[in-house]
Amino acid sequence: VRDDRGVVLSGVTARWEDAAEPVLSGVELTVRPGERVAVVGGSGAGKSSLFGVLLGFVDVSRGTVEVPARVAWCPQEAVLVSTTVRENLRIGDPDASDDRLRAALDAVGLGLDLDTEVGPTLLSGGEAQRLGLARALVHDADLVLLDEPTAHLDEPSARALLDLIDTALADRTVLHVTHRPEEAVRADRVVEIAEGRVVVRAYR
Ligand code: GTP
Repeated sequence: VRDDRGVVLSGVTARWEDAAEPVLSGVELTVRPGERVAVVGGSGAGKSSLFGVLLGFVDVSRGTVEVPARVAWCPQEAVLVSTTVRENLRIGDPDASDDRLRAALDAVGLGLDLDTEVGPTLLSGGEAQRLGLARALVHDADLVLLDEPTAHLDEPSARALLDLIDTALADRTVLHVTHRPEEAVRADRVVEIAEGRVVVRAYR
C-alpha cells in the first residue's frame, strides 16, 4: 500500500465562498490509506462541506489538507450523461481501453454492453450508483467519497450496493457519508461531525 493515498486534515477552518462564517473549524482528521471511514452527523452539520474541502471547492482559510492525487466523488444521485455506457465510464479516464471498462463493469456486477445508451432516467437507482462506482474504478481513484449512496434505493438494492462497496472498493481509501447506523457500522471507523467539528471518534 502506497502511503500517499490517505487523508490528513490538520486544524482546518473552511468557508463557502459566499458565506460569512466558516462551515468547518479546527478539523483534525487522519484517514489511513485503504481505511473506510463513515462520516455521520445531523443535517447541516458539515458533512458535504467536508467533501467540498477534499474536492477543493470550499476555501480553506487555516490549516492544511492532504489528499491523494486521484479522488472520485459519488453523490446521492450518480451523475450520468445521456450517451453510451462507454462514454460515461471514460469520464473517469478518457484513454481507458474497452477491456478496462469491461473489467470495471464486472467489478460492480453490471452486465451492460459498452454501446448501451444510458442517461439519468434509463437505469435504476442501484444501476446508476454501480455505474458511478465503476467510473471511480476506471479513474483508479485512491480516495472515493460516497455521499449517501443508498439514499434513493430500496432495501434490497441498498444492501446489494453496500456489499459491492465492500468488495469493489476494498483496497481504496473511502469516506462514506451516511445517516444510517447499519451502514456506518460496516466501516472500519465512524467519525461524527457536529457544528463544523469532528466531535466523536468511535472505533468499532
Ligand atoms: P445534510 O446533507 O443535510 O445531511 O447536511 P451536511 O452535514 O452535509 O451539511 P452541509 O455541509 O451540506 O451544510 C453545512 C453548511 O454549509 C450549511 O449551513 C449549508 O447551508 C452550507 N452549504 C452547503 N452547501 C453549500 C453550498 O453549495 N454553498 C454554500 N454557500 N453553502 C453551502
